Amino acid sequence: MGEMLEYKRPPTKRNNRGFYVRMKLVHRHGRFQLHQEKNSNLFFKYYKWIIWISLSIYFFSSYFITHKPIPLYKAQYFSKSSVVSRLLFESTNSTFPQQQNNNRALLKDLKIYIYELPAKYNTDWLANERCSNHLFASEAAIHRAISNSDVRTFDPYEADFFFVPVYVSCNFSTVNGFPAIGHARSLISSAVNLVSTNFPFWNRSQGADHVFVASHDFGSCFHTLEERAMEDGIPKFLKNSIILQTFGVKYRHPCQDVENVVIPPYISPESVQLTLQKTPLTGRRDIWVFFRGKMEVHPKNVSGRFYSKKVRTEIWRKFNGDRRFYLQRHRFAGYQSEIGRSVFCLCPLGWAPWSPRLVESVALGCVPVIIADGIQLPFPAAVPWPEISLTVAENNVAKLAKILEHVAATNLSTIQKNLWDPAVRRALLFNDEMEEGDATWQVLYALAQKLDRSRRTTRVAVQ
Ligand SMILES: *[C@@H]1O[C@H](CO)[C@@H](O)[C@H](O)[C@H]1NC(C)=O
Ligand SMILES: *[C@@H]1O[C@H](CO)[C@@H](O)[C@H](O)[C@H]1NC(C)=O
Ligand SMILES: *[C@@H]1O[C@H](CO)[C@@H](O)[C@H](O)[C@H]1NC(C)=O
Ligand SMILES: *[C@@H]1O[C@H](CO)[C@@H](O)[C@H](O)[C@H]1NC(C)=O
Ligand SMILES: *[C@@H]1O[C@H](CO)[C@@H](O)[C@H](O)[C@H]1NC(C)=O
Repeated sequence: MGEMLEYKRPPTKRNNRGFYVRMKLVHRHGRFQLHQEKNSNLFFKYYKWIIWISLSIYFFSSYFITHKPIPLYKAQYFSKSSVVSRLLFESTNSTFPQQQNNNRALLKDLKIYIYELPAKYNTDWLANERCSNHLFASEAAIHRAISNSDVRTFDPYEADFFFVPVYVSCNFSTVNGFPAIGHARSLISSAVNLVSTNFPFWNRSQGADHVFVASHDFGSCFHTLEERAMEDGIPKFLKNSIILQTFGVKYRHPCQDVENVVIPPYISPESVQLTLQKTPLTGRRDIWVFFRGKMEVHPKNVSGRFYSKKVRTEIWRKFNGDRRFYLQRHRFAGYQSEIGRSVFCLCPLGWAPWSPRLVESVALGCVPVIIADGIQLPFPAAVPWPEISLTVAENNVAKLAKILEHVAATNLSTIQKNLWDPAVRRALLFNDEMEEGDATWQVLYALAQKLDRSRRTTRVAVQ
């Protein structure tokens, strides 16, 4: 990650039903009640218009920027009918059923209380449609899915965990469109302050059973540059809590020096489904190796670091002339269909090791080629990463063609078969209404492993 909103996502219609739950709870034992004001009614009034206008802009602009990749690689790997792929998509059967059954019981009893913070901490930001769609949008998606789910409790005394819904990724810069996260620390700090003075639960556990989402480059360090992120570290008021974060590495790092769960970046399930209708999983894949994104020929020295540790530069230099590699440096709204047409999709690091391409590649059936040393991948218990992807060391990118040729000649079809298991795709996507095995479900499963942090009063009696 790191180039942030390099791709403008096509706007998709989403189902917001049930998300704006009326704020039911008047805190029973307490003196205080957090009020939820206007509830973004204004946004809803103009919702259709916003969608209509965005769609028009999207179609209008894509008309002009449409790139037509020439079929570079003629081989057809699989070409069964699209009926098969639909079955694959809908089937609930999995080749990797490790968890499934016994975990259902675990989740049955899990209870999460969601703080009802004033709208300025969360739903106000949704007035900008990008807020619920861009790659950091898991902060809104998880809030929405848990709000709609059965694990939600309105009685904080029977809660195992407390979810603090603060959206910090939606203050888009008017200059470059990137989310400015300079305000993240103060906004979350103020939310913690509100929660800890108005409710007894924060002080009871010093925040240990409280859950936050930090979906940025370097998690709850809240800075896009690693140097600065490491220097600033995780704010003290979050140190004790559980952070759901996209950032994860296998070595010690100050930005994951906290109880955490590595989550996938947000990709809209609707956009995936739309793309799959046009380019079915088992359809023709005429692009052999695909990458679209920032590849600088002469990357700048930014306080001693180079973008992508120059890995992307090397990919460009080495393979730009290779007809089997479809490498593009410019944004293109229809890039998902390119992924759907590709056999291998490169997922090199940006500033941070993680990348939205990981999820998009898996969801669209393109074998992810992960080039990010030490990356910690999300939900390893549900997603058998070694069976569905390839990992190439950063200093081996020069050998990429040879490595991929070897795989294509040996185990490619095995990897694709594993990759096209619907359970794998499901585990990486956040749905508005949680589904068994989807990304929110995996988050809850991970939280259920941390029940030793729960101070739930009713649970003590049960056990
Ligand atoms: C799913 O698994 C069940 C039992 O293992 C089997 O009967 C059924 O045919 C499978 N369905 C699909 C779509 O593979
Ligand atoms: C949004 O970001 C800008 C620029 O960093 C900052 O000046 C402003 O205070 C932020 N807005 C909020 C509501 O935090
Ligand atoms: C929690 O502790 C803080 C700091 O000690 C204090 O200011 C606050 O009033 C306490 N909250 C409650 C609900 O007692
Ligand atoms: C990059 O810049 C830093 C100073 O910020 C300098 O110490 C370092 O030598 C430079 N590295 C290269 C390879 O130019
Ligand atoms: C496929 O082959 C590659 C290279 O030989 C190897 O690294 C990888 O682990 C294999 N993957 C599977 C799923 O067999």
